[in-house]
Amino acid sequence: MMGLSALWLADAASNFSDDMSGATFWMPTQASDFAAKVDSLWDFILWVSIFFFVLLMVLTVRFAWKYRQRSPTQRTSPAKHHFKLEFLWSAVPTVILVVIFAWGFSDYTALSATPSNALNVRAVGKQWAWTISYPQLDRECTPTLDPDTGTQTTTFYLPVNQPFTVQLSSDDVVHSFWIPAFRAKKDVLPNRYTGFTVTPTEPGEYNLYCAEYCGTNHSRMQGKVEVLTEEEWAEFLLKSDPRCVIDSNAPNYGEKLFAKYGCAGCHSVAEGRPTVVGPGLYGIVGHEVETDQGTVIADDDYLRESIVFAGKRIVKGFETVKMPSFEGRLSEKELGAIIDYIKGLGKTDHGPTNTNE
Ligand code: CUA
Repeated sequence: MMGLSALWLADAASNFSDDMSGATFWMPTQASDFAAKVDSLWDFILWVSIFFFVLLMVLTVRFAWKYRQRSPTQRTSPAKHHFKLEFLWSAVPTVILVVIFAWGFSDYTALSATPSNALNVRAVGKQWAWTISYPQLDRECTPTLDPDTGTQTTTFYLPVNQPFTVQLSSDDVVHSFWIPAFRAKKDVLPNRYTGFTVTPTEPGEYNLYCAEYCGTNHSRMQGKVEVLTEEEWAEFLLKSDPRCVIDSNAPNYGEKLFAKYGCAGCHSVAEGRPTVVGPGLYGIVGHEVETDQGTVIADDDYLRESIVFAGKRIVKGFETVKMPSFEGRLSEKELGAIIDYIKGLGKTDHGPTNTNE
């Protein structure tokens, strides 16, 4: 709870300094139709709480003074029932709680209803990155890896003033999809779909967080949502727009696939960065690797085998196979591109080299 509040506050403060519309010191920008509803209910609960806190503190101090023991021999009179008072202190909180419930339930229903003109977005969480795709648009936004910090940031795009429905699922553990500026958050579960619908109302760039502790790099599971104006969205829809397209002819194809298939969640690609889940890949190509089946040279064939049949020859120190098998999941072209990318790590020219001689 404290962590979330701190994160929320940090987000609010960063928005405040950017001078974005609707942001206050306490709250980030209201960038969706849902945001104002959440904030109104929040304010209501806050002010009800402040009112009763002040009332109770004043009464406590007043009664403590008024009914203080005035002499050592003074005794309290026996307590009696006061029906009206007892009825009031039960009835008033009940009414307030029912109002909060009804208010919250009506907002929750709005969050769960999908209008027919909603844009469908699918978000998949995987330790530790988001992949966000558009089933109607044939586009997929994959994470960008910062090799030095291990942070993976996925940027995706939405049109302003059009409702979007996000369908959430997880490849592994429970994550949580949270866009503070939209005031919308939902747990992301393995083996079950969840989701919500909101309408972005303010163009701009907003943060997407994972709000459920999901392992070592939870805090590095980052995202951005860019809410585009109508003209900008029309541009995004053009076939030629490169955003959220994996171009199999681009030189960074392998790097994109490496991020897309979640390899970066476990294997570090930066020099000297320790890895907890899987062996680091920086500069390994062409070198000897100690495995449970003896020493091997990390050449194309060994990389290929390790991707397709992860458990066959495991690097020493990583006895348990946590990596999923990619048998039948990657095309030859994809495999080649990923291997080329790994071979480029630690090479100044980043070009593929033949290590099969
Ligand atoms: Cu994913 Cu925390």
